[in-house]
Amino acid sequence: MDNLSVDHLIGIKDLTKNDIELIFKTADSFKQVINRPIKKVPSLRDITIANIFFENSTRTRLSFELAEKRLSSDVVNFSAASSSVKKGETLIDTVNNILSMKVDMVVMRHSSPGAAKFLSERVNACVVNAGDGTHEHPTQALLDAYSIREKLGEVSGKKVVIVGDILHSRVALSNIYCLQKLGAEVMVCGPTTLMPKYIAELGVKVEHNLQRALEWCDVANMLRIQLERQDIKYFPSLREYSMQYGLTKEILDNLSKEIVVMHPGPINRGVEITSDVADSKQSIILQQVENGVAVRMAVIYLLASKIKRQ
Ligand code: CP
Repeated sequence: MDNLSVDHLIGIKDLTKNDIELIFKTADSFKQVINRPIKKVPSLRDITIANIFFENSTRTRLSFELAEKRLSSDVVNFSAASSSVKKGETLIDTVNNILSMKVDMVVMRHSSPGAAKFLSERVNACVVNAGDGTHEHPTQALLDAYSIREKLGEVSGKKVVIVGDILHSRVALSNIYCLQKLGAEVMVCGPTTLMPKYIAELGVKVEHNLQRALEWCDVANMLRIQLERQDIKYFPSLREYSMQYGLTKEILDNLSKEIVVMHPGPINRGVEITSDVADSKQSIILQQVENGVAVRMAVIYLLASKIKRQ
């Protein structure tokens, strides 16, 4: 069997193009499984997985849990808000206590960039990063690229613009790495204040005009403004942001070609996209969510097969 080059999934930066293609090929098989009347395979009956979330989540958390259950693994869920973290327990102590209950894999979301790598170097379990602060969100980027491949046939050669709050977005960084590894051209678009200073060094085009960005692209990935990560004002008001960078049906319908619209969620309807765009036939937002389960099944399955061999 083909194997991943990594023992943990910390970031897309660590993956090879072959790794990503192997994940997609494996996800293709699991997508068939989850569309069958019996949506389960017995592959990971001997594996126990802990989902530990120190930050809020709807899609990622549910999607990982469903993926794990579809593979027949045992699953435990941990939410920092209702745990002994509130009594002062550290991350390492928390995880080591969970691991002493014979857990094989930890899926973790944390607000600190680097938290997943820190954990992977200190605990005896496979670690999957479900989002670490403003750093990476690797499974989101994998499901985004998988959804582009499904919609347009391939990722190579496609032009993808990521619009919005690039500065605070782990989705943007993971998408840039993933799309470039697969041969896509990537542009970022947003106000200068929401653009990291050295973004051009990642080999992306930088555009501040939404209309020009949309005319250039095949796919527009519209990001949410992450107000929870902003301790200063980066733009005068949400209304002004929306007027400059919000995607409306009128803008979409007046482009010279039909583009694909994506969004990682959660959507702020009326800010980065209007409701009629989110619900339009050009939007693949719910297909992204559906593909998230198959892609996460593939990631867990491939990483678990390495645990069993050791
Ligand atoms: N896309 C994403 O990470 O959504 P959640 O924050 O709901 O998990």
